[in-house]
Amino acid sequence: MADAKTPVMAGSETGKPGDAAPGQQPTRSAGSQPAYFSCWDIHAYYGESYIVQGVSFDIREGEIVALLGRNGAGKTSTLRAIARVDDPALKAGEIWLDHQALHSMKVSQAAQNGVGLVPEDRRIIAGLTVEENLKLAQIAPPIGWSIERVYDLFPRLGERRKQEGTTLSGGEQQMLAIGRTLARDVKLLLLDEPYEGLAPVIVQEIEKTLEQIKALGMTTIIVEQNAIAALHLADRAIILDMGQVVFDGTAQDVLDSAELRQQYLAI
Ligand SMILES: Nc1ncnc2c1ncn2[C@@H]1O[C@H](COP(=O)(O)OP(=O)(O)O)[C@@H](O)[C@H]1O
Ligand SMILES: [Mg+2]
Repeated sequence: MADAKTPVMAGSETGKPGDAAPGQQPTRSAGSQPAYFSCWDIHAYYGESYIVQGVSFDIREGEIVALLGRNGAGKTSTLRAIARVDDPALKAGEIWLDHQALHSMKVSQAAQNGVGLVPEDRRIIAGLTVEENLKLAQIAPPIGWSIERVYDLFPRLGERRKQEGTTLSGGEQQMLAIGRTLARDVKLLLLDEPYEGLAPVIVQEIEKTLEQIKALGMTTIIVEQNAIAALHLADRAIILDMGQVVFDGTAQDVLDSAELRQQYLAI
């Protein structure tokens, strides 16, 4: 990918309108309230590879954003940077969630402060039952939903509570991965390709559940190759290309624009 412009270190003065003093959440325009979530000019690298190239966007509380773009556009890397996973390394920019500076946190602190990443590979822990996987999520505060509430949302998990998690079907493992995240106190849910590899009937089942989670007002970013499904769920859409934001608007705008979809989503 292209060389880095000289990125600005997190917390330093950048002189752009809307920048705040270090330690304070920036606002986009003078006088407006800071957004519930915002990432501001974030730059992230895998070693020397410059991947997330100055991504900025805001999310209102309760909003669902579809983060879209072709394979390799930088969607997973952006989610990982927000969740403060070590790789890619965040070298510049600010990330704020509910007045907390995520950019200066490590992954465990970001999780404690309400970032819930459901990774693409689901990471169900081998050797543990469904229920043990859920209980493990609650081993330390802050605790979110009760395990019974997770079973109410995903009755299949309740039926299989004594079954080893890794023996579940792909769809059930996705439910467990989402349930495990909700079992912690989540302010921002990050879903990385939740429908990947699943049969259409299971996709529909998970879509219904995500609609229920949406109705509860959970602030969410959903990354999906199945852009149409994600756009139906989402309020807003952000399209990434080559590690940069190329579109930020309503989900309906993308559904209505054949040009946008062809250019950046190949659908
Ligand atoms: N661990 C890694 N090390 C080096 N490069 C990586 C790594 N993971 C992803 N990349 C590169 O970063 C770019 C963006 O990848 P990714 O964020 O996974 O894209 P997306 O999720 O949009 O498909 C790609 O060019 C990919 O090859
Ligand atoms: Mg990805």
